[in-house]
Parts: sequence; structure tokens; C-alpha cells
Amino acid sequence: MRAMFDRIAGYYDVMNSVMTAGLHHKWRRRAVDLARVGPGDRALDVATGTGDLALELAARVAPGGEVIASDFSEEMLSRARAKGADAPVAVTFEWANAMALPYADGEFATATVGFGARNFSDLDRGLAEMARVVRPGGTVVVLEITTPTRPPLSSFYRLWFDRVVPLIGKVAGDPQAYAYLPNSVKRFPAPAELAARMDVCGLDVRYILTAGGIIALHVGTKR
Ligand SMILES: C[S@@+](CC[C@H](N)C(=O)[O-])C[C@H]1O[C@@H](n2cnc3c(N)ncnc32)[C@H](O)[C@@H]1O
Repeated sequence: MRAMFDRIAGYYDVMNSVMTAGLHHKWRRRAVDLARVGPGDRALDVATGTGDLALELAARVAPGGEVIASDFSEEMLSRARAKGADAPVAVTFEWANAMALPYADGEFATATVGFGARNFSDLDRGLAEMARVVRPGGTVVVLEITTPTRPPLSSFYRLWFDRVVPLIGKVAGDPQAYAYLPNSVKRFPAPAELAARMDVCGLDVRYILTAGGIIALHVGTKR
């Protein structure tokens, strides 16, 4: 898994923009709205990849705040660091495994994860770790692709994910990585189930579906 993310790091941003027609930036802004952070807060972005969500957080916690953004792919982190140089507050991009976050209990006002949770080897453990490092009253935000259940989008979605995305992967020279993407989305729990699993971690959860039901934004407030 880590090797796959190292391999795709160089073209990850371009592929994101192609596959979402640039909409992923809007979804990230929405995720950060739900995180409810402001100037001076400390925020964590887990499985940060090339750092786009961490940079959105940085804009919200300035001035005086801080963002820690971690990932287990060094190739992703090196791209993120290059983008983070002009951030309005310090953004530290560092190696960490989401299954065992190297942070103390209650350190952060929010912990976010964008398009990363579906890659966790143990989703419940990843969610529990995010909840642990957030202070009571703080938030855990999960931005993920989800499977729409209603036509016509459900039909379009099947065509897109089962045919077009793997084809894009072939053209990009990495069919394995882009066959993995649709499979990981199909395996991921439906929005209500994800909310229930976050609740078990001590979070009061609500969620929003957007983009015709293909994007789910869950926010949990720590009890
Ligand atoms: C699809 S990318 C998402 C990147 C970024 N969050 C975004 O919004 O575009 C998934 C990221 O999760 C990271 N990842 C997956 N499992 C992880 C784990 N257990 N610990 C840390 N990072 C992980 C991968 O290295 C990869 O960078």
C-alpha cells in the first residue's frame, strides 16, 4: 500500500483534478468548514498525502495556529513540503502511521482525513486514534468518496469507476493503482455505518452527502 502511494505521488495532484474536474478543492474547503477551527488552533491532518487539506486548515488557523500533517508515504510528504512553504502558519509535514499516531491525547482542536480513511488497514483503529488526539469538544472530520445509491448518478458512477478510472490508470501507466481506487470505495462503509463506527469512538456525528451523493463529509464532535 505504502509503495503504491510512493509510486503515484508524482502525478497524484493532476489525477485528482482530472478525475473530479477540479471539484476536490471545494470539497476540502467544506471539510475544513466542518472542522470548526479558527485563529490560534492546533490542527492535525492525517494521511495528508500531498497536503491540500492541511493547507486549507493552515488558512483557517492563521494567525497564531499550527498544523501538523502526517502520512506514511515519504514521496507524498516531499511533495506536500514543497507546497507548504508559503503557508500562513507553520505546517509540519511528518511521517506517522495513522494506526498509531505519535501524539498525546487531546492535543488538537481537530483531526481531519481526506480520501485517506478508506485506505486505512484498520478503519476502526484509525478513527479511534483520530478521536483520541482531539480535545473534548474538538472535531474529527472524514471526507470520503462514497457509493451513490440512486439513479441516474449510481449508473454513471459505475461506468466511471469500473471503466473510465481503470482506463485512466492504464494511460497513466499504473493500472494496479487505479484498479485499487474503485475497489477501495466499494469496500468502504456506507455513510450511516461510518457514522455509527465514529460514534463508538466517543464522537457525536453528523454527515452531509454532496456532489450528487458521491462525496460524504462526516464530522464528529468529541464527547
Ligand atoms: C488517496 S491519498 C489522500 C491524500 C490526501 N489526504 C488528499 O486529501 O488528497 C491517501 C493517503 O493516505 C496515506 N495513508 C494510507 N494509510 C495510511 C496510514 N496507515 N498511515 C499514514 N498514511 C496513510 C497514503 O500514503 C496516501 O498519501
